[in-house]
Amino acid sequence: MQIRSHLRSLERSRTARTDPDRPRRFTMRGREWDLLPDVFAPPYSASTDAAMELLGFMAGTQAPRQGSFLEIGCGTGIIAVSAALAGCERVLATDINPRAVDNAALNALRHGVADRVRALHSDLFDAIGADQRFDTVYWHSNFVLAPADHRYESVHDRAYVDPGYAAHRRYLREAPRWTTPGGSVLLHFSDRGDLDRLHELADASGRRLEVLRRTRMREGTELVEHMLIKVSPVRADADPDGARPGPGAARPVRGSG
Ligand SMILES: C[S@@+](CC[C@H](N)C(=O)[O-])C[C@H]1O[C@@H](n2cnc3c(N)ncnc32)[C@H](O)[C@@H]1O
Repeated sequence: MQIRSHLRSLERSRTARTDPDRPRRFTMRGREWDLLPDVFAPPYSASTDAAMELLGFMAGTQAPRQGSFLEIGCGTGIIAVSAALAGCERVLATDINPRAVDNAALNALRHGVADRVRALHSDLFDAIGADQRFDTVYWHSNFVLAPADHRYESVHDRAYVDPGYAAHRRYLREAPRWTTPGGSVLLHFSDRGDLDRLHELADASGRRLEVLRRTRMREGTELVEHMLIKVSPVRADADPDGARPGPGAARPVRGSG
């Protein structure tokens, strides 16, 4: 299916990264945001706008408005900063792309929430303090499946494709360990991704997937469905073989309710 083609997504990545007219600032959801080079650029994809809608960062809808919020893959920081502006008291914005970490810090300053938003360079959960827990753990992921042997040509491409879904596999297994009791793990995915494969990975990791919300966005000639998925352990004590012995090892792995 054309919409799921990793080559097509890599082409979209190249266009967004190298466009000579790539803006240094953009406006989304009524606010202005800084955009650094090599960082995932919301003006070139409808998915960030979809993410903002699905999370309810718009009038009249529910959103994480209190507690702590961990964003994996923050890009420009638009979602992490919006979470702080919506009322979250403590936000950790992480990304594997160091320029994205700088970008999130810049946008936290721009919007006056630098005291509540910390930006951290991390491959998924690797650099996060072992004792930290979050009410919401969230990733707007690089949901397009690339062949397992694909080698990234730029850090920017990491925003678009995940070779062999290695990062998704880790997220499904590790994310529930970082929630507070009763906290939620959320994943933003779309039909550019391989939902069947995601379910296989979830089954193998003892995770249940539940689509909370969906929205459709037009991207050029394509209509793309985006979804907010809740990830929960199938059993409260689920601890699949090989899962990282994380900070929650001394307590049961808690689901989101
Ligand atoms: C689709 S972009 C979303 C960016 C931003 N949250 C937004 O909505 O505009 C996915 C982000 O995940 C990051 N990413 C990819 N693999 C990662 C990993 N293993 N650990 C942390 N971040 C990762 C990418 O660098 C990229 O910034």
